[in-house]
Amino acid sequence: MISIDAPLDLADPQAEEFLDDLQGNILRGHGRDFAAHFLLRMIGEPRDVANWIGSFAESVTTALASRDLAAVWRSDRGVGEPFACIALSHQGYRYLGVSDEAIPLAGGAFKGPVDDRYFALGMKNQSNVPPPGRHYNDPPASNWEASYRGDIHALVILADNDNQRLAERIDLFRQAIDGVFEVAALETGRKLKKEFDRGTLVIEHFGYQDGVSQPLMIKQKIEEEVARRGNDHWSPEAPLSLALAPDPAGGYGSFLVFRKLEQNVLGFSQALVDGSAVMGVSPEEVGAMAVGRTTDGIPLVGDRPADPAVDPNDFHFDQDPDGSACPFHAHIRKTNPRGDIARILGGFDAFERARRIVRRGITYGERPDLSDGGPPPSSGVGLLFMCYQSNLDSFIIQQEGSDGNDFVRPGTGVDAVIGQNESPVAQTWPSNGDVEFTMANFVRMLGGEYFFAPSMTFLRSLSEM
Ligand code: HEM
Repeated sequence: MISIDAPLDLADPQAEEFLDDLQGNILRGHGRDFAAHFLLRMIGEPRDVANWIGSFAESVTTALASRDLAAVWRSDRGVGEPFACIALSHQGYRYLGVSDEAIPLAGGAFKGPVDDRYFALGMKNQSNVPPPGRHYNDPPASNWEASYRGDIHALVILADNDNQRLAERIDLFRQAIDGVFEVAALETGRKLKKEFDRGTLVIEHFGYQDGVSQPLMIKQKIEEEVARRGNDHWSPEAPLSLALAPDPAGGYGSFLVFRKLEQNVLGFSQALVDGSAVMGVSPEEVGAMAVGRTTDGIPLVGDRPADPAVDPNDFHFDQDPDGSACPFHAHIRKTNPRGDIARILGGFDAFERARRIVRRGITYGERPDLSDGGPPPSSGVGLLFMCYQSNLDSFIIQQEGSDGNDFVRPGTGVDAVIGQNESPVAQTWPSNGDVEFTMANFVRMLGGEYFFAPSMTFLRSLSEM
């Protein structure tokens, strides 16, 4: 039996069977340049919907297939194979008639007080989770995009490196779901890339390299990353249980958070200019203090690796205890406090590490300004934020801390990149100084839901319902 209390060793004779029962995109990102996200509402007879999902299981890319396809792609660097996966919301499980005992429960090393209520109530009702549940500051669902206000039962992701082939698959998918699902929303994402001195990097719309720091759950990938980036200060290692929760039907799945986050790029850029006047440093330096990394991904704490092509991640905030280099309100410090929980709040490192998330977001929206030099957009572009975890509390604690003025210590102010707060207090730039300036509310939540990506055993069992 594979233990989920440790990373997966691909050399384990049972590893293949284990990966064959798991959907792709959880342990490793699908990595495709283009992706379509269908937010679906079930409309057919529950038995027909179940059968449909059972047949769709044939098209799902398992973690095993993902691994093999990645190996082929690495050798030929061609366009690669298409990718597909599916996840269900709590309401989706209920629609299918799945009994309460068969709906997945939160896993992970440290369960939160009300974990399973988070999933049951859904993202729209997160503010109604009873105490001691955690909450974040999303706008009410009545202010979300209209397509997200109703029930959402499933999320299907189709991804591809060939955008034309993806367009054809989108059309075929629409035909295939006729009478079974209606499409609440279809969100198409594409990787945004930019040339920097140290190479071509994947960026988000504010212009910063994204997807650098991820927990790793495969032994061989951990060894590779440690050899490249080092682990004197920070280890990317995580047990499988960081992302995987038991699926009551057998095997494992993972809770998946989906959020459409609109980015006000114009407002963010203007704030960097305004902040620069107040702080007496360049707009680039303000931006780096907001994110915690420069646009090309260099963290404000720790040394640069000798090889500029390496994405640096071997740093810890014990190297910057007073926030003089990377302020406490910086996005990467709010979301992954690397030691602040133990040092400032007296908590446990093991708890902090157990609240890491596996990010799988992709940017959406067009950026003609990047080629024609026009002003950056204030709407219409953003991040289809997605993350996997064994326990929704991991995402929730990060969003709560980012939206709050008092994490990781009173008066810190909100996360300068993602913080949503109607009464943000001014942050101190850097944290050991006396310069105050407010950066908040550049990201707007337009809609989303909590899902569970079930095991292949569960998906296949649906065709027998
Ligand atoms: C539009 C919204 C967002 C933008 C523009 C954004 C941008 C970034 C950037 C530029 C990085 C640094 C590069 C890296 O380490 O990969 C980063 C890291 C990270 N972000 Fe976000 N992010 C967004 C939303 C979120 C949300 C909603 C969360 C969770 C609540 C989150 C959690 C994280 C985490 C955990 C890291 C890695 C921190 C570390 O391990 O050092 N992000 N993000």
